[in-house]
Amino acid sequence: MRAVIQNSVGGPDVLATAEQPDPTPKAGEVLVRVKAAGINPVDGAVRAGHYKLLGEPPFILGWDISGTVEALGAGVSGFQIGDEVFGMPRFPKQAAAYAELAAVPADEIAPKPSGADHIHAGALPLAGLTAWQGLVRHGGLKSGQRVLIHAAAGGVGHLAVQIAKAHGAYVIATTSPQKLDFARSLGADEVLDYTKGDFADKLRDIDLVLETVGGDHAEHSLKVLKRGGVLVSLLNVSDATKTQAKAQGVRVERMSVVPDREGLLKLGQLIDAKKLAVHVAKSFPLEQAGAAHAFLATKPIGKVVLTA
Ligand SMILES: NC(=O)c1ccc[n+]([C@@H]2O[C@H](COP(=O)([O-])OP(=O)(O)OC[C@H]3O[C@@H](n4cnc5c(N)ncnc54)[C@H](OP(=O)(O)O)[C@@H]3O)[C@@H](O)[C@H]2O)c1
Repeated sequence: MRAVIQNSVGGPDVLATAEQPDPTPKAGEVLVRVKAAGINPVDGAVRAGHYKLLGEPPFILGWDISGTVEALGAGVSGFQIGDEVFGMPRFPKQAAAYAELAAVPADEIAPKPSGADHIHAGALPLAGLTAWQGLVRHGGLKSGQRVLIHAAAGGVGHLAVQIAKAHGAYVIATTSPQKLDFARSLGADEVLDYTKGDFADKLRDIDLVLETVGGDHAEHSLKVLKRGGVLVSLLNVSDATKTQAKAQGVRVERMSVVPDREGLLKLGQLIDAKKLAVHVAKSFPLEQAGAAHAFLATKPIGKVVLTA
């Protein structure tokens, strides 16, 4: 099979396509013929060596997969050869999705929603599961709540806005000025240009904040939360912020996304009900993985995908 392999850490140009042995599915695994593999910011951090999730190279990046079942390992039931599937297998261990074939645990993938093609389904799992787990599992999202979603035009943010709206929340979204219209089109009730003034001066009585930006954003977001509210952060939260939150009666959840078949099924239901749509800014063939990484670093709206 062809795969994108890297032999050293570094810039996007360390990504190169090479012939690799076909993986063989072990017991409990499914061999997937990958049609599309979504790219996430974590891929770039691992590629560059900032984040040592996969140890030292050589390794194959990628966690987001959409494709068809090519073969079944021993003991796998519930899938047949030819089935269309998607998922975020093995995260944070190596899933090697930037390849024509990937052997993945059967219980970490789900049927691809019929309302999304492979490019859109391949863009969904990691960002979608992060938004789902963050809002619903960690955040305890309920209808009628006031929810603040930072970086609402990003991979996670644009899905989070739609998931929160589908749950009946009142959604306030922050973006840079050129992305405000996009955030509105997702259904956000209020959009804030974060380059014009301080969101914390404009908002009060928020029930749930999804913090996706980092730096002092978590601490700053405490100012808008009501007592009993929840701050769900995808990034590190300082001890000072945790202490401040406790004093304010705010719960803080620092989350890391995990493989989640049930979450995939929920996302698929929202797609098929037309309550959730994945925005793909651009797709690139596997051979152009380096160009795709460079493009993602320009912060396009939505997602970037590789096609195999
Ligand atoms: N813990 C976890 O499990 C987990 C899971 C997924 C992602 N993450 C992390 O969460 C972050 C977001 O992921 P992603 O996939 O959504 O990234 P992404 O697609 O690259 O989007 C990031 C967005 O942030 C926006 N942004 C930058 N500064 C901002 C600010 N001050 N206020 C509001 N928005 C701002 C950018 O757009 P504009 O500035 O143009 O509006 C961009 O669209 C990344 O750091 C990623 O590594 C963590």
